[in-house]
Amino acid sequence: MSTLVIVGSQWGDEGKGKITDMLAARAGLVVRYQGGNNAGHTVVVDGLEFKLHLIPSGILYPDTISVIAGGVVVDPAVLLEEVAGLNKRNIDTRGLRVSQSAHVIMPYHKLLDSLEEETRGDGKLGTTCRGIGPAYTDKVHRCGIRISDLLEPETFKARLASVLKDKNIILQRVYEHDPLSFNDVYDSYTLLADKLRPYVTDTTQLIMDANKADRNILFEGAQGTLLDIDMGTYPFVTSSHPIAGGACLGTGVGPTDIDSVVGITKAYTTRVGEGPFPVELSDDTGDKLREAGHEYGTTTGRPRRCGWADTVMLRYAAAVNGLTSLAVTKLDVLTGLDEIKICTAYRYRDTVIEKFPERLDVLAECEPIYEILPGWREDITGAVTLEDLPVAARMYVERLEELSGVPSSIISVGPARAQTIVSKRLPASFQA
Ligand code: IMP
Repeated sequence: MSTLVIVGSQWGDEGKGKITDMLAARAGLVVRYQGGNNAGHTVVVDGLEFKLHLIPSGILYPDTISVIAGGVVVDPAVLLEEVAGLNKRNIDTRGLRVSQSAHVIMPYHKLLDSLEEETRGDGKLGTTCRGIGPAYTDKVHRCGIRISDLLEPETFKARLASVLKDKNIILQRVYEHDPLSFNDVYDSYTLLADKLRPYVTDTTQLIMDANKADRNILFEGAQGTLLDIDMGTYPFVTSSHPIAGGACLGTGVGPTDIDSVVGITKAYTTRVGEGPFPVELSDDTGDKLREAGHEYGTTTGRPRRCGWADTVMLRYAAAVNGLTSLAVTKLDVLTGLDEIKICTAYRYRDTVIEKFPERLDVLAECEPIYEILPGWREDITGAVTLEDLPVAARMYVERLEELSGVPSSIISVGPARAQTIVSKRLPASFQA
């Protein structure tokens, strides 16, 4: 049995949901370790589409425990809505566990997220306005409200009274916004707390016990490496740790207990929100990729910015996450192109750089240097082995592997569970 972390190796939206769903078939536990309902996964099972924001994709398997760990920020109303939506479609959610240490997204977090974005004007970050940044800010500022606080009416009352006093001063004096009513917030969140109570537990202990009992544990990262608060393209990042190390921080699992890290890598690159994006295509090819790949946000519906694969970034993601293999997703989206480009290095002023620059002002000036590969026209959506792929598609994947220095263990050629090529490089305990 083993532990496996799934991380996005780009800017999120790499198709992690499908891979998590697929690997969850072999997992005892599937654990979300960071982020909140800024994430969005689309999973297709037997032709039915499920859109999940907070609940791990493991929920679609009745015998898998799906854990929302302490590193996640939880909007209780969104979580309960998601539970109700799944139940309506006859999905059993009794396997859901929510950490008592997870921080709660409060109404003032959502409000402040939107107001702060408005105030930034042209300098906006392009957040999802779900209250993620403000909730993590309060956690670090030590004025957050945790699920355990929410479940104790007297503790909740005292904490909310103290925090809301400050938040209302900010809302009124900084943003000239109406204050929030203590009673409204208290009453609505107390109701939500009661509904949440059956799912709440000590998830750190749960994960430790599962690890001791030698069960397969799948850690599901949300967003992507370049959106990491420390390792990403700051300030155009999210406020948590999507990288593999985030699995340790957000769950309590020790680094030496992680056996493998699979980097989910879309066959091209997308980004939502603001910030430099060297391989961005603002032409017909970019539009073609957006339409063929349905590149519109699951959470906000925003059109995603599209570009070619960027192996400068991929080498960085490989190092930062300690990737043991890649899962190359959406390879089918590239079908029909005459030629396909891969970015191998950047040109910065008059120098060529092969390492991802740490400074954002440098990245903003980088021009991609491309290698051009032949495209393919054959339909690959039914491929089940590498040999089923046309030579050009195989060459493309091999080149991604060579340039990133990481072998692939999974290739996805369509949204359904079955449209996946799995190699022996995937840890044996996660092979079907
Ligand atoms: P926030 O996470 O809502 O604070 O947004 C910060 C940045 O992360 C923005 O650029 C968002 O578009 C981006 N972001 C947040 N969640 C996701 C995601 O799941 N996929 C892709 N981008 C995301």
